[in-house]
Parts: sequence; C-alpha cells; structure tokens
Amino acid sequence: MADIIKLHDLEFMPYLSEVELGKIVGNLSEKINKKYQGKTPLFVIVLNGAFMFASDLLKRVDVDCEISFLRVSSYRGTSSTGEVKELMPIGTDVTGRDIILVEDIVDTGKTMGDVKQKMKEAGASSVSICTLLFKPEAFQGDYLVDHVGIEIPDRFVVGYGLDYDGLGRNFSSLYQIRPKT
Ligand code: IMP
Ligand code: MG
Repeated sequence: MADIIKLHDLEFMPYLSEVELGKIVGNLSEKINKKYQGKTPLFVIVLNGAFMFASDLLKRVDVDCEISFLRVSSYRGTSSTGEVKELMPIGTDVTGRDIILVEDIVDTGKTMGDVKQKMKEAGASSVSICTLLFKPEAFQGDYLVDHVGIEIPDRFVVGYGLDYDGLGRNFSSLYQIRPKT
C-alpha cells in the first residue's frame, strides 16, 4: 500500500488495506448468502463507484442470482450536489423481483433513497441496500440501510472504486483525505 497519494489538489493517506476490505466484503457476502437462500435476487450494481466492490462481493455469492447495472451521478469534487442524475438506466424488468442495490458508499443517502424509490415504483417486490461504506454522521435518509460493510467518519475517501473528480478508482485499497496543514 503506497504511503500518501496526491489526486488533483488533495492528498490522501492509507485507510483500509486490501486485506481489511477483503474481510469486510467476506462478512457481507455471508450475510447475503444466508438471507437469500432459495431466492433468486437481482443485484443492481450502482456505477461507477461500486464496480470493484461488486466484483469482489459477487464472486463470493453462492445463491442463484442475476446481475444488472445502473449508472447514477450526484457528486462533484468532494461534496454531494443533492441532485441524482440517471446516466444509464437499468434496462431489466424489476417487476416482482427481490432487488439488492450494490453501492460503494452511502453518504447523505440521497442517491440510494432515489434509486430505491424508483425500483419500488417499477414494481420490485423487495429492495434492499448493500453498501461497502456508510457515513452515519452524514446520513439524512428516512430508510434502513440493510447491509453495511463498515461505518466510517464523515471524511472523504478514495480508492477501491471511489474517485475524487475522476481519479483514484483504480487503487486496490482505500485512502482517506489528509487534512491540509
Ligand atoms: P449520497 O447520495 O450523498 O449518499 O452519495 C452517494 C454517492 O456519492 C456515492 O455513490 C459516491 O459515488 C459518492 N460519494 C459519497 N461520499 C464519497 C467519498 O467519501 N468518496 C468518494 N465518493 C463519495
Ligand atoms: Mg456510488
């Protein structure tokens, strides 16, 4: 794991290693395997940020399942715009399906709130959320975040799929913003 990394104007320090992330993802997949036994859930991967997490998670899911993708965007720089844009629709019929939304991070909760609502309106029979990271201090949603990998403080993180203005998604571990001195 590299030491300090610089992306655009900001510096980031190591936060969660590949090994630590692996354990967190393993715990999540175990819970999902138990909960969805005998069912055929439809995983909806929320792009772009969740691609690396989803790949590791789904390799460990052993129930019959389908996988689809949805692309949304709400962030600019290090803060939420509060407006969720759908950049690529899911394109799969969700009627009567058990949906598991796979997200990298739930921050204010606006993105998952909107997506969850849309899936319900489209006729899904259940919609649950599986997120790697959750920032409880920033959360403003009025719904339950069903499966949380780990709760983290309200500080910007990058790596393992997450970006800062487009950069940092390719790192295999997670980095946290370094306070400016
Ligand atoms: P929310 O709608 O505020 O919950 O924001 C969720 C989305 O914002 C996530 O899917 C991420 O793409 C992005 N996001 C939130 N916090 C961070 C962070 O610390 N680093 C990188 N992206 C983040
Ligand atoms: Mg995301």
